[in-house]
Amino acid sequence: MTVPEGTIDTTTAAAGAAAPILRLANIETGYGPVQAIRGVSLEVRAGAIVTVLGANGAGKTTILKTISGIVDPSKGTVEFDGEPIQGRDPDWIVRRGISHVPEGREVFPLLSVRDNLMMGAYTRGDRAGVAADLERMYGYFPILAERQRQEAGQLSGGQQQMLAIARALMARPRLLLLDEPSLGLSPLLVREIFAMIRRVNREQGTTMLLVEQNASVALAHADHGYVLEVGRIVLEDTCERLMHNADVREFYLGVKAASVRGEQRWKRRKQWR
Ligand SMILES: Nc1ncnc2c1ncn2[C@@H]1O[C@H](COP(=O)(O)OP(=O)(O)OP(=O)(O)O)[C@@H](O)[C@H]1O
Ligand SMILES: [Mg+2]
Repeated sequence: MTVPEGTIDTTTAAAGAAAPILRLANIETGYGPVQAIRGVSLEVRAGAIVTVLGANGAGKTTILKTISGIVDPSKGTVEFDGEPIQGRDPDWIVRRGISHVPEGREVFPLLSVRDNLMMGAYTRGDRAGVAADLERMYGYFPILAERQRQEAGQLSGGQQQMLAIARALMARPRLLLLDEPSLGLSPLLVREIFAMIRRVNREQGTTMLLVEQNASVALAHADHGYVLEVGRIVLEDTCERLMHNADVREFYLGVKAASVRGEQRWKRRKQWR
């Protein structure tokens, strides 16, 4: 078959635009004898918000730690922007454009809010750009501007989560890794934080990879999702479709099977389809 002249470039450009910024292939990571994730493959397209859903101990944090270089995989590859980054130091990876908001926030409790934010910009030399981004963060999270001179340890849990996100954004990442931003927060604060995550994604074009136990909030805000069970990906789809998947509804959203498929509870087994 012959391809008409002039169509090749367009096809290539379209394929290029859809290329993933992050790609994990067959990743295995463990802690000593404990194998935490097994054969995990996933992709995140530039500009998207992607979520990994999973219960306690499923391996969500391990996926993020493997990407940001805190732990090294024993097998598999992590590609960022087409370049293998697995096994690199966390500092090198931050400079490459990936910031990680850890589980449990981990702000510096004795430093002021402002100094915490400035710590996030430690890799940057452009002082004017850093000053502008500091103001931008105060615009996104006005409470941080109000509390900028207070010690971060005095902030509420929700405010610390905002600070942890803003601190990570101060590095101007192309990819932001978020580890359970909803954990321990009231539904109102969770909505506020997720609205902000979306706003940053839209306005700054920051790609986001978000791991969550809170499936309903993650599916409502992300574009694409993966379901992780005991270290393996068992399902992948758009969040729109995952929200309507019978297994996701029953086992992650707490909607009874009877109301989904008309089957009795005792008959239901997860089928992941
Ligand atoms: N430092 C560690 N040493 C040994 N085992 C670990 C360590 N960190 C995690 N694990 C184990 O690895 C598995 C995956 O843990 P991980 O923290 O990635 O799960 P998670 O999905 O983030 O869980 P959670 O929802 O509780 O945060 C679990 O079995 C856990 O016990
Ligand atoms: Mg975790």
